[in-house]
Amino acid sequence: MATSILVIGASGQIGTELTLKLREIYGNKKIVASDIREGTEALMESGPFEVLDATDLQAVTKIVEKHDISEVYQMAAMLSATAEKHPMKAWDLNMESLFHILNLAREKKIKKVFWPSSIAVFGPNTPKNNTPQATIMEPATVYGISKQAGERWCDYFFKKYGVDVRSLRYPGIISYKTQPGGGTTDYAIEIFHQALKNKKYTSFLSENTALPMMYMDDAIQATIDLMEAPAEKVKIRSSYNLAAISFSPAELAGSIKKHISEFEIAYKPDFRQEIADSWPSDIDDSRAREDWGWKHKYNLDGLTKKMLAGVAEQLKIAE
Ligand code: SER
Repeated sequence: MATSILVIGASGQIGTELTLKLREIYGNKKIVASDIREGTEALMESGPFEVLDATDLQAVTKIVEKHDISEVYQMAAMLSATAEKHPMKAWDLNMESLFHILNLAREKKIKKVFWPSSIAVFGPNTPKNNTPQATIMEPATVYGISKQAGERWCDYFFKKYGVDVRSLRYPGIISYKTQPGGGTTDYAIEIFHQALKNKKYTSFLSENTALPMMYMDDAIQATIDLMEAPAEKVKIRSSYNLAAISFSPAELAGSIKKHISEFEIAYKPDFRQEIADSWPSDIDDSRAREDWGWKHKYNLDGLTKKMLAGVAEQLKIAE
């Protein structure tokens, strides 16, 4: 087990729950959370936290040395919808934050790296259904371009310098504990808040836009399973396709209606529709299942139940 683990981007949607889970497994003090901004109360109070700009190499190096870090989860990134508004800023953040960690690992200052990729690495020319691990990848978004380039660099650092880097192509991750920020799949989170508050929701993606999705607990499980897998089982060092479920706004609304029968959905696609149209509907993750035993737990109705209960609890607390 690592001396200490650093999570960069720990206040974000995935970073928060990942940090809390790692603290539960390895002990609170061993997991150092860091982000440019403070996180939720649960995150801030459960263990060490450092304010950190992921693009500042000196600051990252200092924290790695100070806490005797041996593993890093580099979760900081600008997501797809925001990145389209700030292309150069997104490129700089997404690439610099990765390079710093890969280079620290190359210099043997850290031993193991996790870096998330995304379904956004695929593009309009990629087969839309059961998208293979290796296929045409011509991403049409800045976010996707940065993730695809990042994947190539991960593979390069593994092959050239023996860096133990591991990565997953996350689908849309659905959760309620921390707000998502700037993603195209975020409608599938907003919908639960609106369903409980107003019994209606206007989706920014069209009725039948199916995308690969996953409940947060599955994503965290996959991340930790991959990081704990023996090195020889991790045969793909760019990034693994990872899947659980696929649904459209209409299908998600149908699942919510089973619990809130008055719920109504309307559709008003905006600029994010074009992003979603360039992504696969569902992807083939058999390599992850074969190589290190990936298995998802939550289907659409299971995800809906957890989300409705979680968001309802939050609304009650906020009252
Ligand atoms: N959920 C992300 C987004 O929508 C995809 O990686 O940007």
